[in-house]
Order: sequence, then C-alpha cells, then structure tokens
Amino acid sequence: MNYNKKSIEDIDVAGKRVLCRCDFNVPTKEGRITSDKRIVAAMPTIEYLVNKGAKVILCSHMGKPKGEWKPELSLKVVADRLSQLLGKEVIMASDVAGEDSKAKAAALKNGDVMLLENTRYIKGETKNDPELSKALADLADIFVNDAFGTAHRAHSSTAGVADYLPAVSGYLVQKEVSIMGKALANPERPFVAILGGAKVSDKLNVINNLLEKVDTLIIGGGMAYTFLAAQGYSVGKSLVDNEKLDYCKEMMAKAEAKGVKLLLPVDTAIAASFPSPIDAEIPVEYVDCTAIPADQMGLDIGPKACAEFAAAAKAAKTVVWNGPMGVFENPTLAKGTIAVAQALADSDAVTIVGGGDSAAACEQLGFANAITHISTGGGASLEFLEGLELPGIACLEDK
Ligand code: 3PG
Repeated sequence: MNYNKKSIEDIDVAGKRVLCRCDFNVPTKEGRITSDKRIVAAMPTIEYLVNKGAKVILCSHMGKPKGEWKPELSLKVVADRLSQLLGKEVIMASDVAGEDSKAKAAALKNGDVMLLENTRYIKGETKNDPELSKALADLADIFVNDAFGTAHRAHSSTAGVADYLPAVSGYLVQKEVSIMGKALANPERPFVAILGGAKVSDKLNVINNLLEKVDTLIIGGGMAYTFLAAQGYSVGKSLVDNEKLDYCKEMMAKAEAKGVKLLLPVDTAIAASFPSPIDAEIPVEYVDCTAIPADQMGLDIGPKACAEFAAAAKAAKTVVWNGPMGVFENPTLAKGTIAVAQALADSDAVTIVGGGDSAAACEQLGFANAITHISTGGGASLEFLEGLELPGIACLEDK
C-alpha cells in the first residue's frame, strides 16, 4: 500500500470550505466524555485549518446508531469539548448533510468551525452510499481525512466522499502512518512485537504478517493458551480455540523457518473460573505453563513471563504492542499487562502501542508519556499491522 499521500500542507485551504473527517468516536458515560484523547489528537489539524483561514466543516461518527437518530449518540458533547479546546464556538449542525448543514456551511466565515451530526445517523454512511458521499462533498471544496481510527472503514464520510473532492490527509493520519509505516517497513532492530488479547482468530493475519518482519514475536493473553495447546501442553480450562491449533502449529513452524524467536509465557496466573463480575476479587496462584491443573484456567501471564517479556522489550530498538496479557480489567489479573506497559515505558526503543485495550492500559497506568506513539486506532491499527490497505487512506491523493 502506498502511504505517500498529500497532506493539508500540500493544498491551499485559505478561504476554502474544508470537510474534515475526524474520529470523534469517544467513550462517554452519562452524557460526559470519559476520554477526549481522540479529540485532542485531532486538534493540530483543526488548528492548522483555522489558522490558515479555512471554513472548517468537521464530521465524525459516534457508536453504532445504524441509521437511527439516537440522541445519546449526538456529537453535541464533542462540539462542546472542541469549543473549550479551541477557545471559540464550534457551530453544531442539527443534521448530517441536510438543510441545516447546508445553510450553516454556506454562512461560514474564514476560520469558523462547524460540526455535523453523527454521520451514522444516516443509513447510507456505512454502506458507502454515493448519494450521501455526494451530499457531504457538496458542502465543501476540499476533503481532509484525519480519522485514522476509522480509516479501515470504507464509508461515505471516510472514503466515498473522496470521489467528489480533492482529498488529502490531516496531521494525525500522517503521523500514525509515518510512525507505524516506518516500524513495519524499515524498523530499527531488534524489532519485537508483543501480541495479546483473548482470541487467536482476531489476530490471524497480524501474526502472519508480523512474522515476516520481526526478530522476536511475543504472544501473551488468552491466545497464548491455544499456542501452548498446539505445542502439546495441557492447559486445563484455559481458553483454547480448537479450530486454530493447526494454524498455531503453522505459525510456529514459520517462525522457526524464518529464524524469528517466538516467545510464549513460561508461567501463568490460574484460577478455578473466570472472574464474575470481571473486576471481582479472586484468589489466584502462579504455576508454570507446563503444569496447569485440569480444573484451572490461565488468566494472566506469570512473573517469570513478565520478566522475560520485559527483558526482550528492553533489548529491542523497536517494539510494537497490541493486546493485553491477561484479564486486565481485574486488578489481580492486570499484573502482566502492567509489566509490559512498564517495560515499554522503561525501554529506549521506539515503542508503539497499537490502540484499543493496550492503549487504554498505558493511559490508565500513567505511562502514556513514556511511549513513543500510542495509536488512536483500535481496529484500524490492527489492520495496519496486518498489512491491509486502509480505504480511508487509499482514497487520498498520492504525492
Ligand atoms: C473505533 O473506535 O475503533 C473507530 O471509531 C471505528 O469504530 P467502528 O468499529 O464502530 O467502525
């Protein structure tokens, strides 16, 4: 995939109406934003456009309203936060590309900023409906995609609209693509990838693609037990994806053939059952992965694995991490994930955290500033690591 795309600096935006797709799909609780990380991450692009005198029309989805006007998924809360961050009013449209948006877009003065309503209020959005793409394009003269977190979706507001307007990337998309793209294409070595998460099936192509690139691949989290089972170990009641045992064998053989060191946890935290509720206090023991009793399940990596994974991260020059090492929502079972986050924070390597749960873990633990790059994309960063073409980037003009 060609990531050498034109950016906002390659096009004259002064006095132009610029439709800027952001990923404002931020978590909320009782109508309040609980993390504004994605809004803050979009600010450099928005500020650039404002300072250059563009008429800025922002748009985004939030949640999955599936074409229904769900008031709890209104972007009004984002407009309020944006107004605070920008220090000026962000005009809120009451529709997506309807009469109100058209009237407000037409009345914008240079440097004004408006925000459309949740693009997924319109059914056509997720179908990449040309009618919606055209209606969005009609609001503006230029399209800027700065929604890295949604770049893996071929939707009207992320890709379709680029059929009708000159389309360039914003600073966030540029930054994500250049840091992660360099790590994958031309990493400083040793290059270590740490993968976690519950299921092997979620990471099939990531494992396969990373084995082409890394020096060491570390596998923790729930999916490690399928690998251990594929090696012939009894893993008790641990989560095992039986249909993926052959796949794991294939990947282990591939690692060997390519000279990639594949590290699995040597020890694990075990308990009789999965905690319920997920953060309930439960008694755990630590055993070697060769000795998991039949009536127990592995729920986190153990201290020996933590030390081994941390040593590999410290010796690396580039580290990419995606996916927690255990049931990190539970304080007792978060130790492996914390150890990996700490190891990345302590490492002198270029450290990249690929969105989702591992990004949330780094932020909650206060390690975010010690990490080179925390992606704003969950699914998008995973697809990037898989080496897939991201439609929201592919649609932009080449340099
Ligand atoms: C995300 O949170 O990963 C992005 O905003 C994309 O959201 P989606 O998975 O609902 O398409």
